[in-house]
Amino acid sequence: MSDLVSQDVNMIFKSLKGETVHALKDISFTLKKGELLTVLGPSGCGKTTLLNIAAGFLRPTSGTITLGDKEINGPGLERGMVFQQGALFEWLTVNENVNFGLRMKKEDPIKTAKKVEEWLDIVGLQGFGNTPTYQLSGGMQQRVALARCLINDPDLILMDEPLGALDALTREKMQSLVLKLWKETGKTIILITHSVEEALLLGERLYVMAPRPGRIHKEYTLPFATMGLDGDLREIKNDKEFVSKREEILTMIWNMEEEIMGKEV
Ligand SMILES: Nc1ncnc2c1ncn2[C@@H]1O[C@H](COP(=O)(O)OP(=O)(O)OP(=O)(O)O)[C@@H](O)[C@H]1O
Ligand SMILES: [Mg+2]
Repeated sequence: MSDLVSQDVNMIFKSLKGETVHALKDISFTLKKGELLTVLGPSGCGKTTLLNIAAGFLRPTSGTITLGDKEINGPGLERGMVFQQGALFEWLTVNENVNFGLRMKKEDPIKTAKKVEEWLDIVGLQGFGNTPTYQLSGGMQQRVALARCLINDPDLILMDEPLGALDALTREKMQSLVLKLWKETGKTIILITHSVEEALLLGERLYVMAPRPGRIHKEYTLPFATMGLDGDLREIKNDKEFVSKREEILTMIWNMEEEIMGKEV
């Protein structure tokens, strides 16, 4: 089983002034194959740092993250990343972006072209293969980013605020698409977001992180992602349990922000 296991991960940065920042403290969790975890928390609580360690871009100060039986200690093709808007190769076409990984692996061009077509179909971009990506809307660009990641068939998908730059309506459509892809591919996903609603809607599990030091403050197991596979996201947002969880978490994060401001004044 390719579970993702984080064991006592600590990350301590030294700033240029010599101050130490305990960005992550004793982070331990297991994410089973096929689980979708969302991570939420105030700015600076270590979300991106955690993702960067899982991606292999950063080595933790202590502790380990393993995927299956392999310790993560560098970037690898079994892990795919989707960032906020702007991480595409803008001067390349949609096809060239999506087939990038397979071209690097020198896969058969005919098979690759077929796969690209299939993925463009899945993310609703059929017919856009030859369009340069800078000509696409934000939502379309993020679909290219999803297809570019998924075509490589990674075991783990890491997303850092992938929908953060989109308008509300496009964002809602993309949330449905993320759920659809999760259902159809059975991938393990970690998605970071600043939106409480998004974290609740998409996360089978949800971690609320707290800052200074960055840690897991509270964990939820939620029914909404599964409900959203077949149901209307708008209706789920009005569900009584959804509304009460949203208020609970908003208050939790509000209180954390107050505490940070208090420390800084
Ligand atoms: N390379 C680095 N050198 C020094 N400090 C760093 C470095 N990267 C991150 N930090 C610090 O670690 C802490 C966590 O940063 P991180 O970017 O992980 O937060 P975040 O939760 O992703 O915040 P945001 O919601 O604003 O994206 C912050 O205090 C940040 O200043
Ligand atoms: Mg971040």
